[in-house]
This record gives sequence, C-alpha cells and structure tokens, in this order.
Amino acid sequence: MGYEPPPGTGAIKAATLRRSHRYLMPHRVESFDRMGVSFVIDRREGYRLWDLDGRELLDLHLNGGTFNLGHRHPALVAALIEGLERYDIGNHHFPSEPRSLLAEALADASPAGALRKVVLCPSGSEAIDVAIRSARHATGRRRVVAYDGAFHGRSGLSGAAGDDRAARLFHSESSDFAVVPFDDLDAAEAALAGNDVAAFLCEVLPATAGFLMPSDGYLTGLRELCDRHGTMLVADEVQTGLGRTGGLWAIEGFGVVPDILVTGKGLSGGLYPVAAVLLQERAAGWMHEDGWAYVSTFGGSELGAVVARRALELSADPATLANVTAVSEAYGRGFADLQRGYPFLAEVRRRGVVMALRFDHPWGGITMARHLFEAGVWAMFCGFDLSALQWKPGLLVDEAFVAESLERFERALAAASDEVAAGRTPA
Ligand SMILES: Cc1ncc(COP(=O)(O)O)c(C=O)c1O
Repeated sequence: MGYEPPPGTGAIKAATLRRSHRYLMPHRVESFDRMGVSFVIDRREGYRLWDLDGRELLDLHLNGGTFNLGHRHPALVAALIEGLERYDIGNHHFPSEPRSLLAEALADASPAGALRKVVLCPSGSEAIDVAIRSARHATGRRRVVAYDGAFHGRSGLSGAAGDDRAARLFHSESSDFAVVPFDDLDAAEAALAGNDVAAFLCEVLPATAGFLMPSDGYLTGLRELCDRHGTMLVADEVQTGLGRTGGLWAIEGFGVVPDILVTGKGLSGGLYPVAAVLLQERAAGWMHEDGWAYVSTFGGSELGAVVARRALELSADPATLANVTAVSEAYGRGFADLQRGYPFLAEVRRRGVVMALRFDHPWGGITMARHLFEAGVWAMFCGFDLSALQWKPGLLVDEAFVAESLERFERALAAASDEVAAGRTPA
C-alpha cells in the first residue's frame, strides 16, 4: 500500500519512514503520523534525543526506564568496550564469570537479600514467562492472576497475563489467566480463595494504566493473601525497579518481599539486552531438578552481564537514589504550581521519578504528547488510559534539566488547554 511521509520531511527521514512502513511497522508508522508525531531518532546523548531532521527533544520516556542512566552513559559504554576485549555472547550451557558475578550482585541487591536464585533472560517478557513457569512448578498449579490494566509483555505467557488484547489477536489468550482490579484486596481474595492460583503477578505501579498508586496497606495485604492461599507473589519491576522510586525496588518501599521479582529494561544500561528473574529458594525448585528446563542462547549474554553489573551498581549508588528523591520533589513543586494556573492538569501521581499526569479530557494524554513533541519533549501517553501521560525523568537528571523540561511542559500545557477549551481536540 502506498505511504507518503508528512509534507516537509527531509529526504533521509522520509526514506526511513517509507522503508519502516514497507518492511517493519506499517500500522505504527501510520498511527504516529495520525498523532502528529513524526519521529525517527538519530543522535542520542544523556537525556536528549535528536530527530533525523535535526530537531532536539528531551527524553521523558526513556523507553520505560531502559535509559534510566541516560543514553550512552560513558561508564556503561566503557564497560561494554572493555567487555568486548575479552568476551562475546558466551555459551549459555556453561558457567561463566561475568554471568556469575551479575547473579551474585542481583541476589545481594534483591529485596531483604532474600531472592538468592537468578535466571537471566533476553527480555522482560521472557523473564515474566520464566517467573510464571517457576511459580507453576513450585505450586503444582496453573492459574495466574494479574491486574486488568497490567502490561507484562508480548511473549506467550506474559502476553496472556493482564490486558490480553494482543494475545486475543494471536489466539493465544488462556482461561488459566484471570484479572482483578488494581488496589482491591476483596477482589484479590476472591480470586485466590480456591487455593488454585500459582502466581499473583503484581505490576507494582501499573505503568500502562498510568502509574496507579496503591492505598496504604494494599501490598502488605496482598502479601498476606498470597501466603494464606499458597500463591507466589511475583513483582513485575521491569519499569519500577532499579532506583526509579527512590529505593532500588518499588515493592521494597512498601515493606513487601515478593517470592519472585522480574527486572529488565534499565538493567541493560540501554546498551545490551538483558533481563533477570530473582527467586526465593521456594520458587526455584526446578533449577535443582532440570537445569535445561529453561535456557536461552541470548539469555544473560556475557557482554550483557558486564554492562548490567555496572548499570546495577550505578542505579543502586546512594548518590543516585538521593538525586531521584530531589528530582521528584522538584517536579512535584513545579507541577503543583502549574496546577494552580491550568486546571487541565487534573492529577499528578508521583513516587520517585515514576510519574504520571492525568488531564481533564478523555484524550488529554495523547493531546499533551503531541503538544510536548512540538515543544521539544518526548513523553508517552498511557496506552490503557488515554487521558494520562507517563512522565519519566532519568535517575541522573539535574536541576537545569528539570527547569528546562518544566518550561517546555508549560508551553505544551498552555497550548493543549486552549485547544481543549476551544473544543478542537478530536472526539
Ligand atoms: C511492566 C512491564 N513488564 C514487562 C515488560 C516486557 O518487557 P520487554 O519489552 O523487555 O519484553 C514491559 C515492557 O514494556 C513492562 O513495561
């Protein structure tokens, strides 16, 4: 089918868009064009991106935290280059020094240091699959419960958990998977009451639903319910882990130790794919029984392990975590000021640099993403709540970045407020 990039697009960018439309992602290219976001990332450094046409944007998306430490952090680039002097992907059948060192660092950094077994995977989705399989093996049960507004990935088991729209597209949905509303202990209790649930998949602050925040006592209550009904509590910290909430793991901040924790995205340092499942012994029985029951050629490549260990070290650094708290408070003050002048900014959800903003219009998040793009910021609307926008600053941003991003945000907010007030936002 014929596709033409928006008028005025430069030659290289136009050719890239046409090729991407033809070979890779026709629907995505068309959707972004419709949204008014024609973006092909070229150069990237720190928390800034440059479009192929040369326009600079502040990165407030970070691909879900993949670039927590910034794009091409010099220490991570150096670790990768140094790793290349000695290693490659490695042979996943055998023990390996970089993989063993990363596993030890992850076990030591796990909530309460209690998750002492580690499985390395090539993606967050696959890590969620391994978490589910581990829980099924440990409990001898098949059923999995997740939040109705949760996103756990797009592989087989992860895609069937939580929102299963894409699983249904591929006829991969499963009656073994049930959903409950977030923050509802009665619903969780009803779902677990049959003592037949292997895993409760808990996206600690559900990202795609708009970083919903749990009520006091919800997560400790959920932990008790899982204990009472013999269900493994799985924390999906693919977005919320690695320092984003001001502690290393979001769930730890709520005083809860899960049976299984999944991390990914930022663990890669944005340079080499790697994700990990951390397990308490009681969830890791299969690792003693059949060491080949889960293996992956690219799971925990040695180069990935070298980069991940450095990324973990930088993310857990007390100075990094202190910066997260300071940055969070600075944005909190900035957004509170803006809310006084712009009622369109209806709600601010914030825990560390995990933030979502809800606007006073059903498509407010999308409208803001477009105006922010025009103002020089890339931030992503929430896929399951189009009234909301994820605002995801990096762990290492400084005061000047906060000020500049708030300035651009205000420009976009003023334009979007006017557009909505004039009824120009498409219904
Ligand atoms: C909360 C959460 N879990 C799991 C995943 C899947 O990770 P991946 O894209 O690496 O497969 C994602 C990806 O966005 C995620 O946000």
